[in-house]
Amino acid sequence: MQIIKEDVLILGGGMAGLRAAVAAAEYNKNISVGLVSKLYPLRSHSVSAEGGTSAVLSPKDNFDLHSYDTIKGSDYLADQDAVEKFVRLVPEQIYTTDHWGCPWSRNPDGTISQRDFGGLSYPRATFAADKTGFHVMQTLFSRALKYDNIHIYNEYFATSLIVENNSFNAITTINLKNSEYTVFQGKSLIFAAGGAGRLYQFSTYAHSVSGDGDAIAYRAGLPLKDLEFIQFHPTGLVPSGILITEAARSEGGYLLNNEGKRFMEKYAATKLEKAPRDIVSRAIMWEIEAGRGVKGKYGDTVYVNLDLRHMADILEEKLPMITDIAKRFNGIDPAEELIPVRPATHYTMGGIHVNNDTETPVQGIYGAGENVCISIHGANRLGSNSTNECLAFGNLAGVKAAEYAMSHSMPSLNNDKAKAEETRLWDDLMKRDGGENVAKIREDLRISMDANVGVFRTEDGINNGIRNIKALQERFKKITIGDKSKVFNLELEWALEVGFMLDLAEVIAKGAVLRKESRGGHYRKDYPERDDANFLKHTMATYSTEGPKFTYIPVTITKWKPAPRVY
Ligand code: FUM
Repeated sequence: MQIIKEDVLILGGGMAGLRAAVAAAEYNKNISVGLVSKLYPLRSHSVSAEGGTSAVLSPKDNFDLHSYDTIKGSDYLADQDAVEKFVRLVPEQIYTTDHWGCPWSRNPDGTISQRDFGGLSYPRATFAADKTGFHVMQTLFSRALKYDNIHIYNEYFATSLIVENNSFNAITTINLKNSEYTVFQGKSLIFAAGGAGRLYQFSTYAHSVSGDGDAIAYRAGLPLKDLEFIQFHPTGLVPSGILITEAARSEGGYLLNNEGKRFMEKYAATKLEKAPRDIVSRAIMWEIEAGRGVKGKYGDTVYVNLDLRHMADILEEKLPMITDIAKRFNGIDPAEELIPVRPATHYTMGGIHVNNDTETPVQGIYGAGENVCISIHGANRLGSNSTNECLAFGNLAGVKAAEYAMSHSMPSLNNDKAKAEETRLWDDLMKRDGGENVAKIREDLRISMDANVGVFRTEDGINNGIRNIKALQERFKKITIGDKSKVFNLELEWALEVGFMLDLAEVIAKGAVLRKESRGGHYRKDYPERDDANFLKHTMATYSTEGPKFTYIPVTITKWKPAPRVY
């Protein structure tokens, strides 16, 4: 067992993790910051964020308006004090990254450009063409490399979290390069390991987004909040699922059904294609269910079309990446042809429960970004409210974790727990020999989640999903990891990921069956109305060996009383 010690540990090298690393390293140059990631940071899924990030930069805009849009977008499940804090933290992050070299798109007068996005009442999404995540990540990574006290541990896969006396103790990892079991000790830890959207098959996510951070926290006793709220982005490219940015619609793109007609007027009379994602995704699915979907050259997949042909003159400047993606992956030139799209999983609104200061209930453990639920997104995140969250709360978590590290000593390692995890990995997981194939279990899980816990949900469907998860958990006990090599043993990594995904799928599905209402991204055909009397509350799931235990906590309302959500 190798042991590495750092004052502040960060799990995850994406946007929240890198922002936190820079904040902690800047806070005090004498503390050491260890950034642990299963990927090289610039391969994190954050690089594929596309269309923009909202910030109040114009005197014509204001914090109350950004808060209101976010809260209405969340279907009133967001904690309003958290949202009010969030919107005030963001502008400084845009200017800071600008000063660090992020090439934000500009207006002719040199000011930072902003564009419209779904559900916004002012066009406040700042952007770097449609490669926002790529440019922000390059900026943060270059910045992180300036600090000698940031140590980046690439390609270490976290297998468990050790908590002792309700305080952070260590994380256990496998060094993927040589399979060495490596324990990271720290005074504090920041979870910044991203979402869990690859539990689903049709998805805009990279395959690496398997919920590892959520799962290891959950298994160690930290509560997961609101995990049943999964976001489906309306425009996943068919058949790959690659994101076609919402900016395509905010810049003027239309959605067309198989009659070649725009249909959003029926579902969001004012905002049309610029309604929030939950509403547009459902509209597409209603059209498909009514027989107005398109069936073309992509097998049995039914979809709708995105029409950008009338915007040919702005594609190269404003939407170069999706233009290139459509050409490369589908052989389609969006200036002349329609783009086939349908809803794809895109965001996990829930995550590890943290308060407005990014603190988990465990001393010394913090979190930021999609890995956690503060909650600013409630039941539905507005497009353009994600990378700004990574910057704002990544920065805050970095400062908080650094402060904690400066006033605490390194805990002594709980050797029993560290050894027990080593035994689980090599003497249990690697030695299972029941013949079940890890990739097949993963595929069956994803197909079942798409079918049973998707855009539309019903009690029967979700229960079917839960039965499938149970059966897959039994099959998982009988896996065989055929690859016994020590160098980049991806089959072992997948096995660990699939184990995590099965735990999280159970939390999502069971939370969804208990929530007998429709709110944001959680739409129950059997309970089509929002039910504030019974369900204006956050779901909290805690691990037990018999499965998740559910409790609920109230939503914080400040100024905006829940009202009908009409666009
Ligand atoms: O469609 C998009 O460009 C995605 C943005 C977001 O998820 O915030």
